Amino acid sequence: MLAIIPKPAKLTLLSGCFTLNKQTYLKVDPSNAELIQLTNFLNLTFSNALGYQLNLNNVSSLSKKNNIIQFVLEESSELQGDESYYLEIKPEAILVKARKINGLFYGLMTLRQLLPVEIESKKIIANIEWKIPCLQCEDKPRFSWRGMHLDVSRHFFSVDFIKKYLDLLAMYKFNVFHWHLVDDGGWRIEIEKYPLLTDLTAYRLDNMEVWHPRHLSFQQKDCAQALHGGFYTKQQIVEIIDYAKARHIRVIPEIEMPGHSQAALFAYPQYQCAGAAQSLTEPYLYNHQNVYCLGKKETYHFLKNILDEVFELFPESIVHIGADEVDQRFWNNCPDCANFMKQHQLRNGDDLQSQFVHEMDAFLSQNNKTLMAWDDILLGGHDSPTNATIMSWRGEQWAAKAAKSKNYTVTCPAWQCYFDYSYRAVPLENVYNYDPVPAELNEAEAKYILGVQGNVWTEFMTSESQVEYMALPRMLAVSEVVWTQVENKNLDDFMQRLTISSTRLTLAEYCYCPLELISEKNLTA
Ligand code: ACM
Ligand code: ZN
Repeated sequence: MLAIIPKPAKLTLLSGCFTLNKQTYLKVDPSNAELIQLTNFLNLTFSNALGYQLNLNNVSSLSKKNNIIQFVLEESSELQGDESYYLEIKPEAILVKARKINGLFYGLMTLRQLLPVEIESKKIIANIEWKIPCLQCEDKPRFSWRGMHLDVSRHFFSVDFIKKYLDLLAMYKFNVFHWHLVDDGGWRIEIEKYPLLTDLTAYRLDNMEVWHPRHLSFQQKDCAQALHGGFYTKQQIVEIIDYAKARHIRVIPEIEMPGHSQAALFAYPQYQCAGAAQSLTEPYLYNHQNVYCLGKKETYHFLKNILDEVFELFPESIVHIGADEVDQRFWNNCPDCANFMKQHQLRNGDDLQSQFVHEMDAFLSQNNKTLMAWDDILLGGHDSPTNATIMSWRGEQWAAKAAKSKNYTVTCPAWQCYFDYSYRAVPLENVYNYDPVPAELNEAEAKYILGVQGNVWTEFMTSESQVEYMALPRMLAVSEVVWTQVENKNLDDFMQRLTISSTRLTLAEYCYCPLELISEKNLTA
């Protein structure tokens, strides 16, 4: 059985096989750097199991017609879209064709899943014939935003793990990594202008409750091993962006404001509201009550200075500013906020939040960036900025509202796409059967739905294997929600392919939830 996930648009199985061996040549235009990078990626991915690298064509071998894998960029291809590809496997040759390099990359990812599962092994597999069934496949994604999110604030994850996570995204044709870098649990991105952000909040005692400033840990050596945390230097962030780029994954940074700012305000309490200091004697990880004071102009300078460094670092045009779950109580008791609201004729906290988001939207636009925020910015009957891309987590009516107001929208409703929820709360079927386009949208409105992502919040995930266990295999169901045409989706068929794919995951050294524990049927029995 072919077990390709996500299921391709059109596939015809033919008789015979191609056999990959030491003599197989990779044939590409040697003058094209993107194609050379693709062949390097192929060798990187396959050579552990093969025990050798495939030869890249040179001028003398360009005429070779047998035992080749050929990658061709072809503008005139009838395939539509930058991410589509055509794959043809014959006994003597494999051809992958696409208009753009992304398409060729997805063709390669399909080829990967057509090889025996042992190709994922980190160790050489001897005594195996690397046979690939003959077929023709035309494929393209349903949505352009196919994302996975990771919260690295509540718990920190190493650069190596981020790369392992990106490898997983690439395998299943995801093209967005939403990096939740900042939250109440710690600030994880180096900001040169404000070093205390990371100095004071990147490490905390591992009781999950209280931050432990790094400099204190040096005085109290006996509890050093109990510290949890870390942050990414600018150099590491560039390294990760490059790693993602080689896998055709965009990296969207999220810098939370004006709420979920407990960590930042622990480091720089001057930007909180008058009267809020009291709460900072208890900087709990789960407490998301503290908010930036929006009545002080210094707060705006602080946030814009941070964003300037973020813009410089991330080539991505979209920057996510969070803006969810803002506790407005501090604003309501703050003289600075009261003055500001009076001055700008704002009636309440919703108006203040809305004014803030508009201000940030204008700032991002001036910097040629697009603001993204959670669907909370649609609260209170205020217009969301027309430039904003909305990330809808609170359910279908908010996705519909955003799309109707012509805001591009990515959906990740909690009961289908939150992988911090248990498998009992969000069983695999919920994820697989989810369709992100609300029925009430007409065709023009539906175009504003860009796609879907799975979210991995880590309040209760302390280890890398826990992240993998919660994300896998549910993220494979997301891959099929966002890639596969609706008419090709079938849960039973998916489950069969998943059984085979799970062996791939084991060989690739990912941890996942056992398949007997992911399904509604079994969990309710
Ligand atoms: C969220 O879950 N607060 C976006
Ligand atoms: Zn205030």
